[in-house]
Amino acid sequence: MRIDIVTGLPKLLESPLQESILRRAQEKKKVEIVVHDLRDYTHDKHKTIDDTPYGGGAGMILKPEPIFECVEALQAQRQYEEVILLTPDGEVFNQRLANELSIKNNLLLICGHYKGVDERVREALVSREISIGDYVLTGGELAAAVLVDAVVRLVPGVLNDGESALSDSFQDGLLGSPQYTRPTEFKGMKVPDVLLSGNHADVEEWRQQQRLERTKSRRNDLLETEK
Ligand code: ADE
Repeated sequence: MRIDIVTGLPKLLESPLQESILRRAQEKKKVEIVVHDLRDYTHDKHKTIDDTPYGGGAGMILKPEPIFECVEALQAQRQYEEVILLTPDGEVFNQRLANELSIKNNLLLICGHYKGVDERVREALVSREISIGDYVLTGGELAAAVLVDAVVRLVPGVLNDGESALSDSFQDGLLGSPQYTRPTEFKGMKVPDVLLSGNHADVEEWRQQQRLERTKSRRNDLLETEK
């Protein structure tokens, strides 16, 4: 899989993409992530990527020209299955969407910033608009990092067996079960006996029961909505 990210603030993406599992996924060549600085696609002395909105109003809008130039240059090199704008007014990201994106070959992400993006970018370039939740960030960069993290860990071969995504919260519509590690007793709190029993069938039954109870008490909406 290849993911290209177009941004006016490339530094914001550096460290989230270079640590832990995302770093390993790139080292193992399971995924290639390339960040593109919008300022490299400007032609004025000040490398201007934003401007004031027509009709007035507060804040700056990302100009269309650098985004079009960057995206069109990338599209000339390969076909992207989705060109995604990260924006708070997009479709809300979830595990189902992460699964869907994890089987694509080429994704192009555009990070919105400042007060917004010139509407012609959405009209002509973008196939999908995604929000990571109902709150407003200063820009789409952290949202892109969240999306990339959730998607890349699902790409086959990225996680090793012990880290399997199949038992994740949400993967089958339920939250995860409680987890414990050594010691068996800590500050008077004990690991449930069943986990120490060595009986795999009992452990599985207990975990499934815990997952159902947790989902019911914390996120009953997950049991009611269709996935
Ligand atoms: N840009 C600003 N807020 C955002 C959000 N919640 N999701 C995606 N992109 C954003």
